[in-house]
Amino acid sequence: MTIAVIGATGRVGSLVVEQLLNGREAVRVLVRDPDKAHRLFDPVGGDLDVRAVPLGDHGALSAALNGIRVGFIAMGSVGLEGNLQRLLLDAAARSNSLEQLVRLSVLNAGPSSLGLNQQGHWSIDFAAEALDLPYTTIRPSVFSASVLAGAAEIRSEHTWTGLADTGRVALSDHRDVAEVAVRILRDSTTWGTHYDLTGPRLVSWPDVTALLSAEMGETVEFRVVPDQTLVHRMIDAGIPPSKAELLITREWAILHGENERTTETIRKLLGRRPRTVETFLHDYIDNFR
Ligand SMILES: NC(=O)c1ccc[n+]([C@@H]2O[C@H](COP(=O)([O-])OP(=O)(O)OC[C@H]3O[C@@H](n4cnc5c(N)ncnc54)[C@H](OP(=O)(O)O)[C@@H]3O)[C@@H](O)[C@H]2O)c1
Repeated sequence: MTIAVIGATGRVGSLVVEQLLNGREAVRVLVRDPDKAHRLFDPVGGDLDVRAVPLGDHGALSAALNGIRVGFIAMGSVGLEGNLQRLLLDAAARSNSLEQLVRLSVLNAGPSSLGLNQQGHWSIDFAAEALDLPYTTIRPSVFSASVLAGAAEIRSEHTWTGLADTGRVALSDHRDVAEVAVRILRDSTTWGTHYDLTGPRLVSWPDVTALLSAEMGETVEFRVVPDQTLVHRMIDAGIPPSKAELLITREWAILHGENERTTETIRKLLGRRPRTVETFLHDYIDNFR
């Protein structure tokens, strides 16, 4: 069978493609930048079909999904990316070959979350249900890799600026999320449900900067600023306003304790404990020095 991956050149999607190719699966990636896909995946080798597909082009999308049995989407949930995901669902629903669409979503996807990302994913799930798609979602908590967004500030000022000095999340390691996706894509007995994923234990952002301080051997402080100050800092740093808004609402959701739970899903699907934040910080420490 050929597995289609959309969002293949992103953080999670690229790991999924690499692991599928290493597992001798045939993979078709639908991308906007084929050169990037070749740079990432040619060194891996295997049965890879790179297709440059404008996701807003219904005919091109339908042609690219022809013969695909399983699809995986790992893209953003709001703005253009959210709308493109809806077009993808529509094309998938018309496919004669597709048996399952697996989509990367987020923990607590729902209409009443304070997080725009959670609201966006819920509305895409709603569209999938309306289309009666054969459908699975993977819903991870905030990634440990979110700290990488603060790497430049941490390197230069030894601070990380945010809003949520209270409220905890059992951060997920994106590498675990990719492994779960591969497990689900390859095993039809896992299809047709929603998987809530978390890391092993709840931590706050100040807990994370304390762990980073221990790993670095120098103090990194979590610094709280008012919402508007943080928005302006992010926009000045080149983050698009819509992404800045999404990140602010993520902090609100954390402050309100929306994420304060752990699940056993990674242990059940992968047969091992999820990676810890300490492991992530250790593996990515060069980004912070
Ligand atoms: N970050 C977190 O803490 C967190 C936690 C839980 C869930 N999630 C969910 O994880 C998902 C994001 O995964 P990720 O971090 O792997 O994403 P990512 O690194 O931002 O990758 C996004 C992918 O979408 C592609 N893309 C974006 N806009 C596109 C467009 N207009 N046309 C075609 N392709 C487009 C990108 O292509 P290019 O490579 O060409 O840019 C890239 O391959 C989101 O749904 C998010 O809600 C994130």
